[in-house]
Amino acid sequence: MDKIPASAGGKPLLDKYIIFGSPVIEKPEIDDVVDSLTTGWLGTGPKVKRFEEAFKEYVDARYAISVNSCTAALHLALLVINLPPDAEVITTPMTFTATAASIVHAGAIPTFVDVDRKSMNITAEFIEPAITEKTKAIIPVHFAGRPCNMKKITELSERHGIKIIEDAAHAIETVSQGRKIGSIGDLTCFSFYVTKNIITGEGGMVTTNNEEYAEKIKVMALHGMTKDAWHRFTDQGFKHYQVTCAGFKYNMTDIQAAIGYHQLQRIEQYASRRKKIWHYYNDAFKDLPVIIPSDNALEGDRHALHLYTLLLKTEDLRIDRDQFMDALHKENIGSGVHYVALHLHPYYAERYKLKRGMFPNAEYISDRTVSIPLSAKLNDADVEDIVEAVSCILKYYAK
Ligand SMILES: Cc1ncc(COP(=O)(O)O)c(C=O)c1O
Repeated sequence: MDKIPASAGGKPLLDKYIIFGSPVIEKPEIDDVVDSLTTGWLGTGPKVKRFEEAFKEYVDARYAISVNSCTAALHLALLVINLPPDAEVITTPMTFTATAASIVHAGAIPTFVDVDRKSMNITAEFIEPAITEKTKAIIPVHFAGRPCNMKKITELSERHGIKIIEDAAHAIETVSQGRKIGSIGDLTCFSFYVTKNIITGEGGMVTTNNEEYAEKIKVMALHGMTKDAWHRFTDQGFKHYQVTCAGFKYNMTDIQAAIGYHQLQRIEQYASRRKKIWHYYNDAFKDLPVIIPSDNALEGDRHALHLYTLLLKTEDLRIDRDQFMDALHKENIGSGVHYVALHLHPYYAERYKLKRGMFPNAEYISDRTVSIPLSAKLNDADVEDIVEAVSCILKYYAK
């Protein structure tokens, strides 16, 4: 007889909980963090510089400036492009609040546009009609790691004289039509939050090919003090600094950078593990009442495979998305929602007079999406357990 899900009174499939987005931490970063603790250099120092050098090479950018989150990266990127008051910045509602909140913190207005249902990304076709005289920037988000069509978005931005700041929180390995994400937009922002493809605990990076932006961000990320202010604590003796703007405390520490540097050395190894899991999932779920992630891509695209998002065919199920997640939780498996569309959250809805019905594709995804674990930490038995649990729940609750 088929297994009865724990949510319907059966026994949980797993004794131990599989956490959603658990990172792989290995010995080289553990040793390097211990080294920082032993030498006592805990702040911003040589390991940050080493991580920045390695990262800019990986993403093929001229400059990489580390910060303590992608949120900080987005904020600074928006500040250095000098937005006039009441500027509008176009972005997607299918993102984490940090993308749009950074726009608000930079004194601008987030303008949401709908996404393509398959790629779940904003496209030039949705962006163009939303451009006004006040539009000064676009923030494409490479959702789940799948590239936006950057060729078309870049053409659009050039035609209208608009800057591009990419939110590449999911997209460290992403390539758009042969060009590495991090080397295309005016500025690109990455995240090393604990669930991301490589991690520093908390952490972020801005990359750019514009020297002036790079210099400004470096200064703004550390209290607005003249560059290389961190040297003041070294054995090179005290050096005066000058404050050149009201900056922020957004710098990355050597402890974080020690983790990130070693993680970066294994980025492709982790990516190939996730690719294997991804294909295994696709195969296992293709005949169930779900839509598996689209595999359509333009030539030269690379998906970073950050989030494995299933769309539940709720029309064919007796449970909704939240009940599905609860059922999975009862089997001892964690999951996530990426995302409830931002215009459905009270802050954005109330402040910008947005409501359901405005972005139908985003809403369709928002109502049905569920992300199941995809970390490179999962072993084959974990992956099989996840497949078994998801299949069991979907089959049991199918109409
Ligand atoms: C699309 C997107 N943008 C921005 C962020 C913010 O990143 P961080 O947590 O590094 O500030 C996240 C984090 O989850 C994200 O998923």
